[in-house]
Amino acid sequence: MDRISLLHDELLLTILSFLPTTKDVVATMVLSKRWQPLWMMVPRLVYDYSYENADYGRFSRFVDRSLLLHKAPVLETLYFKVTRTSGVGDIPLWTRAAEKHSVRELFIEIHSSCIAFPAILPRSLYTGCRMLVTLKLNNVVLVDAASEPVSFPSLKYLKLNSLKYPGDEFVKRFLSSCIVLEHLDVDQCPGDNVTVFTVRVPSLESLYVRKSSDTDLDNAEGFVIDAPSLKYLGITDSTGGFCVIESEMPNIVKADVDTGYYSLSKILGR
Ligand SMILES: *[C@@H]1O[C@H](CO)[C@@H](O)[C@H](O)[C@H]1NC(C)=O
Repeated sequence: MDRISLLHDELLLTILSFLPTTKDVVATMVLSKRWQPLWMMVPRLVYDYSYENADYGRFSRFVDRSLLLHKAPVLETLYFKVTRTSGVGDIPLWTRAAEKHSVRELFIEIHSSCIAFPAILPRSLYTGCRMLVTLKLNNVVLVDAASEPVSFPSLKYLKLNSLKYPGDEFVKRFLSSCIVLEHLDVDQCPGDNVTVFTVRVPSLESLYVRKSSDTDLDNAEGFVIDAPSLKYLGITDSTGGFCVIESEMPNIVKADVDTGYYSLSKILGR
């Protein structure tokens, strides 16, 4: 037996966690019988289509099968990166694996210029991920969940990059439901269906919002911030909108405000 095979499973799983993608992890199956069942317990699953050299159909089948066979009761990380339009249809199904495996970190990244086939996340995401600590979304569509309460009881880090939302009210409710959220990073894109982006999160310590516009300026758009525990605030807004700060922020350490607001009076503090 080689020396690596003498190591404990736990150590081998840690080693496997360092491999770039799940494809590489599964490839270790061929090493020996000892390795065959190991990949199914690796706590980190990374599926990156841009890293693959295969056609999309093969990639998609690989993701389906390995998610189905995976046995780790808790996944530290689940990461999907899809760079093809044909991939967005798979995202709702794959996202459900996050619920099944009590994921702590979930990343969904879509790189596709085709808006005609958006990646729509399932509603069950809002209630099914009670262990989720970190959520990063890029270029996906959130759907309304009026009938179900949104609940992320463990979520501390949230990144929302170029999302489409079901409206102002949803954003306000979604963020308010993150009762232990500490870090929020938002990149708003034009046409995201949000006029006033409201952040009312008492636990929030850092907030970065960026917004750019390539169309005409709309003064009716802006941010409302009510985050009394905030230490770090960054606002980059070139749209000429407004920002209303509703609460005092006695703990603030650093604030970077780079905006096209015509005058400082557009940042209305109390
Ligand atoms: C945009 O937001 C409004 C509410 O502000 C909502 O009624 C509408 O369905 C949203 N559109 C989409 C495409 O989600």
